[in-house]
Amino acid sequence: MPNDARIEAMFDAAKRARRRAYAPYSGFAVGAAVLDEAGAIHAGCNVENAAYPAGACAETGAISAMVASGGTRIAAILVLGAGDALCTPCGACRQRIREFADENAAVLIAGPEGLRRSFTLGELLPESFGPDNLDRDRSSASEPGV
Ligand code: THU
Repeated sequence: MPNDARIEAMFDAAKRARRRAYAPYSGFAVGAAVLDEAGAIHAGCNVENAAYPAGACAETGAISAMVASGGTRIAAILVLGAGDALCTPCGACRQRIREFADENAAVLIAGPEGLRRSFTLGELLPESFGPDNLDRDRSSASEPGV
């Protein structure tokens, strides 16, 4: 779990990105902020599309920003959306987070007023499939019949 100063910085970054969300179809603006292994913060917002399935979630944008900046691990991610219900990451984004995070990574859910709840990735995506699965497969693939 990041310290309070880091959470505040993530919240501010997600809030700023959310103001730029492109969500003309749903009207639901989301901001996200990733904290990487070096302590850097990368923000993203949702970017919708007239061809609805081509739209991208805020988490996707924040993860892309991290990768483009040279970050390799997600220590924590904060997602900010309005409404009464918690703006938890969709199933596909939970898997995208998993690619760069372990089960202990914090997934912080915020509303415009501030932090609402915190989960671990393991709570949101238990018994997940990840990069380790394929590493094992690759080493055994070289042995015929295994
Ligand atoms: N959305 C996100 O960006 N992140 C979430 O965690 C939940 C949903 C976006 C996708 C779409 O642009 C809009 O919110 C409504 O689903």
